[in-house]
Formats: sequence, structure tokens, C-alpha cells
Amino acid sequence: MKEQILHILRLGDRISGKELGRRLGISRSMVWKYIKALRGEGYLIDSYPGSGYLLVRATESLLPEEIRAGLKTSLFGRQIVYCRELSSTQDAAKVLAVQGAAEGTAVIAETQVAGRGRIGRVWASPPGGIYLSLILRPEIKPADALCLLLVAGVAVALAIEQLTGLKPRLKWPNDIIIAGRKAGGILAEMNAEIDRLNYIVIGIGVNVNTESFPDEIKGLATSLRIAGGEEVSRLKLVREILWQLELFYRIFQESGFETIRERWKGLSNTLGSWVSIMSGGQQQEGAALDIDHDGALIIKQADGIFTRVIAGELILGQAGSGPRESK
Ligand code: BTN
Repeated sequence: MKEQILHILRLGDRISGKELGRRLGISRSMVWKYIKALRGEGYLIDSYPGSGYLLVRATESLLPEEIRAGLKTSLFGRQIVYCRELSSTQDAAKVLAVQGAAEGTAVIAETQVAGRGRIGRVWASPPGGIYLSLILRPEIKPADALCLLLVAGVAVALAIEQLTGLKPRLKWPNDIIIAGRKAGGILAEMNAEIDRLNYIVIGIGVNVNTESFPDEIKGLATSLRIAGGEEVSRLKLVREILWQLELFYRIFQESGFETIRERWKGLSNTLGSWVSIMSGGQQQEGAALDIDHDGALIIKQADGIFTRVIAGELILGQAGSGPRESK
């Protein structure tokens, strides 16, 4: 009912409680109750004696009804579970996935108290960011999940570019980098049998209007607001991310990874650089040459040997630089 009231208020005219109630088949006191609830959620609704209610400003919160107003997708984000605070949207999404939640269901929180990054890292999740997990049920082999992680990276980078004009780059496998600092990250967690993927939860964290970061990551992190110098609408960005994700997910399902692989390479800040990777307890160094058809990073070590890396923590050197000389 709140969504219906908002729909009418968004038309922009003042409308009386009586008229609202008549159109929706509810009493004036019920209308008042819903208006009060909407104000509690952050909507600024003026009331004028005699002429009724006027929506002055929608809430800044990422409420499902706000996201859905103007959402272009047909599947992603059509079901949204929203909480002001969660331990991690990943955990909530996994519970929903086990309970049978439909593909495209999104879990969104304003803040997370135990946000997770890759490799067991903490993901700082203060208000002002986007913390979103999406449930997918692709018919792919578990080994192809890495491609999906890169697909999500392309979608998020293009969504940011589309909305802000900023030019994010992708650091393999999943970091969203702007002006050399990390502005977002993507985490893919799956539930699979040996040859069948049951579900995958794609977790997306973007530092949108964040103004300061914990000391440990201060020099490494940025936000869209810091990089672009102005506040960014989180609502519009969530809609754009869901839209680009749906678009690229479709392409991935219909045509495979190839075209998206080229897009990823075009957005990469990794290829052509000297990189050092900690993977499976082993340190590897080399020139990052390419990503292969499975999304793995191909590096050429100083001794000329080619290595294929499917996971790990990557440290980026200078483009075109080579190994440091050992003395
Ligand atoms: C990384 O770069 O290490 C990945 C960061 C992923 C963070 C997002 S925020 C939404 C979702 N919930 C989490 O706990 N983590 C992911």
C-alpha cells in the first residue's frame, strides 16, 4: 500500500487524504498511518490544510519501492530484501538461496557490521555505500564461476561510468579502481556439487558517498564522491548496476564469455603490468599478459615460464616494468 501511495504522490500534485483513500479503497486514518510510516522512512511529505499531501523529497534510503521505481530490469532486483543493518548481505542472501529464493533476488543493507571481502578480509561498510548481494542460479559448471565474477566486474564498472562519467578500471579479478585506488569490490560465493552449481551469490560493495576510511585502508581506498567531487545518487547507481548486471548476465548465458572477456580486457588496469600474486600459499611474479577463456590470469615469469592463476591476492607493479634486480 505504501508503494501505491508513493506512486500517486510521485505524480507531483497535492492530493487530499480523502482522495487518496478513495483511490486506494482505504480510510483517511489508514492513509494518515501510511504517510506517517513513509515519513519515518525518510520521505519528506508536506501536508497542507485543505489541499492535502505533497511529496517534497523522496528518501535517500535504498528502499525496495524506491529502487523499483524506475528500474529497467525484468528479473534482477524485482525481489529485494532490504535491511538498514545486516551482519553481511552475503550471509542473508545465502539463507534465502537455500530457502529457494528466485534468481535475481537482491539483498541490500545500508550498513554491514561484518561485511566480508575476498580472502577473509573485512569490508568496511559505513552508511553512504552500496552493499548488495544478488542470488544467481546459472546453469554452468563450478569452474566457470570465475567468468561470472569478471562479468559482474564489467557490469559494475560500466554502471559507475554511465552514471558518473568516472572511468573505473578493473584489477584482476574483481577490484573496481578509480584514480589508482579501490572504490569497490566484488565477492562471488557459490554452493556447488562436483559438476553442478546450485547457486552463486555475487556480493557488490561500492564506496559511493563515503568520505573517510579506517586508517588501515586510508591510502588505498577512494569513493565515487571523493573521486568525482560530488555526491552520487545511490538509488540511481543501484538501478544502473542491476540493469548492467542483467544485460551482461544475459550475454554471458546466450553467447558465453568471449565478448565480455574483450570488454574486461578493455577495462583492465592489470594486463601489461608486472604483478606479484600470492596464490595457494605461493608467491608468483611475472608480467600479466592476458586472461584466458575461463577468466584465469596468464602471467609470464622472469624465467619465461607461463603460469595460469585462478585466484589470489594481486599486487600491481608499473605497466611495462619488469622484475626487480636481485643483488
Ligand atoms: C573484495 O574486494 O574483497 C570484495 C568485497 C565485497 C563486498 C561486498 S559488500 C556486499 C557483500 N556483502 C559482504 O559481506 N561482502 C560483499
